[in-house]
Amino acid sequence: MNTEVTEKAPAKINLTLDVLHKREDGYHELEMVMTSVDLADYITLKTLKKDTIIIQSNNGFLPLDQRNHAYKAARLIKDKFNIQLGVEMMIRKNIPIAAGLGGGSSDAAATLRGLNQLWNLNLSLAELAELGAEVGSDVPYCIYGGTAFVSGRGEKIEHLEAVPQCWVVLVKPKKGISTGTVFSALSYETLIHPSTRLMVAAIQEQDYSKMTNLIGNSLEEASTIRQPSIEKIKQKMISFGADAALMSGSGPTIFALCRKYSRAQRVYNGLKGFCNEVYLVRTLK
Ligand code: C5P
Repeated sequence: MNTEVTEKAPAKINLTLDVLHKREDGYHELEMVMTSVDLADYITLKTLKKDTIIIQSNNGFLPLDQRNHAYKAARLIKDKFNIQLGVEMMIRKNIPIAAGLGGGSSDAAATLRGLNQLWNLNLSLAELAELGAEVGSDVPYCIYGGTAFVSGRGEKIEHLEAVPQCWVVLVKPKKGISTGTVFSALSYETLIHPSTRLMVAAIQEQDYSKMTNLIGNSLEEASTIRQPSIEKIKQKMISFGADAALMSGSGPTIFALCRKYSRAQRVYNGLKGFCNEVYLVRTLK
């Protein structure tokens, strides 16, 4: 039996995020296309004989208790399967926190996948995704990663082929944003509705320029009101030559898409002088 596993937890960006309506349970019905990028956390899980959950991280700002999605995932799996063993987790954090890049959700998904292996639970990815939905809305997608059409509250996943490979510049403004706050501040009359269905078609056709024309996010306006730098960063990205720029998830991270590496480098260098947290990554296959 393995006593230690390490799982990769990649970040995601939303090529579209369409809020359809608010549901009776308080959540919002969504249609989104998500894709993974090669910026990732790494989670090492070690079995402990003692019935406890211990988290350590290289990032001093990460909560290490029940506020952490990875902790919630471990607690859930222990309770569901009545596991008396404990786990020690080391989260090597590279994805910015509270950024709209799904870092916490991806850590939770990696924890579920890792504990499934470590404790020989033999759960399928679909079963892990179902468990993940109890931890957070983006966790089911993060169980699989890749490119997907995601709907419902986040639990309905249809896998798509990988997006045409491109470069992605990520800029994380200093202050994070809470997802709940952004959803509750939505102004339904002015909501932008990107077409997720057309985005799916563009990906199926592998049409990069159609894809860049179709990106859109219903949450961008509400987040920009809280953080006007979002719009400024988008404009800078376009002025430095990005093919398209958009806020990811509930923000505040903004991503720029660039087909050519030289353009991506120009956007990266231009934004580096303006913000501390800038990353140049690729979409993942
Ligand atoms: O599910 P999760 O805990 O990640 O969601 C955080 C918050 O985002 C929820 O409390 C809710 O306010 C909002 N949300 C929503 N509709 C969704 C997903 C999240 O309203 N589909």
